[in-house]
Amino acid sequence: METLLPAIAISLDGKELDPATLFPPERRDIWLEIGFGGGEHLAAQAANHLEIGYIGCEIFLNGIASALAHIDQQKLANVRIYPEDVRDLLGVLKPQSFARIFLLFPDPWPKARHAARRFVNQANLDIVARLLKPGGEFRIGSDDPTYVSWVMMHMARRKDFVWLAECASDWLVRPADWPPTRYEQKAIRQGRTPHYFRFRRV
Ligand SMILES: C[S@@+](CC[C@H](N)C(=O)[O-])C[C@H]1O[C@@H](n2cnc3c(N)ncnc32)[C@H](O)[C@@H]1O
Repeated sequence: METLLPAIAISLDGKELDPATLFPPERRDIWLEIGFGGGEHLAAQAANHLEIGYIGCEIFLNGIASALAHIDQQKLANVRIYPEDVRDLLGVLKPQSFARIFLLFPDPWPKARHAARRFVNQANLDIVARLLKPGGEFRIGSDDPTYVSWVMMHMARRKDFVWLAECASDWLVRPADWPPTRYEQKAIRQGRTPHYFRFRRV
């Protein structure tokens, strides 16, 4: 934590940040994960795609420590971490920087009076749309029935995203290139059904 985090942490200086400047020029694409939890998905994706620059954001200290352990053990040189509130980072990133953005099992805030705290809302979807390259992919996972309906309702209003599901198995079965997360595995153990949304930026 004391040595690796300072080496790969992203710091902001109030100016626009072009994520490409965080990686060597040969990185083919850059992917962004919002709220990576313990970092299982982040580490697996970064290890499976060494040609990709991977930015992970997480505010929970134990999660950051867990992700750093994965990064260290697997000697992943293609990961950068934003260890603070992701909303501060999203606001300064250069538009059309990412080929993929992941929002996996965001805090569901299932009570109606807390709905304003859900990450998925039209303002944040505007930001995600701005940050994705044309043809880029936005992935959302959720096991919470209220949040699943909420995602469908909000994404149905978007003209700038196309839902890639063609049949039920496309969103009820985790795609092969979507490594599991700790939160998802816990949800399955507790009898909840994860849903796997993939949207293409048009
Ligand atoms: C329910 S957990 C899911 C974690 C992980 N994606 C998984 O599937 O195992 C949601 C995560 O989002 C993180 N988070 C919530 N709000 C955040 C924010 N504003 N900035 C960064 N991370 C945030 C939380 O700390 C938590 O680790």
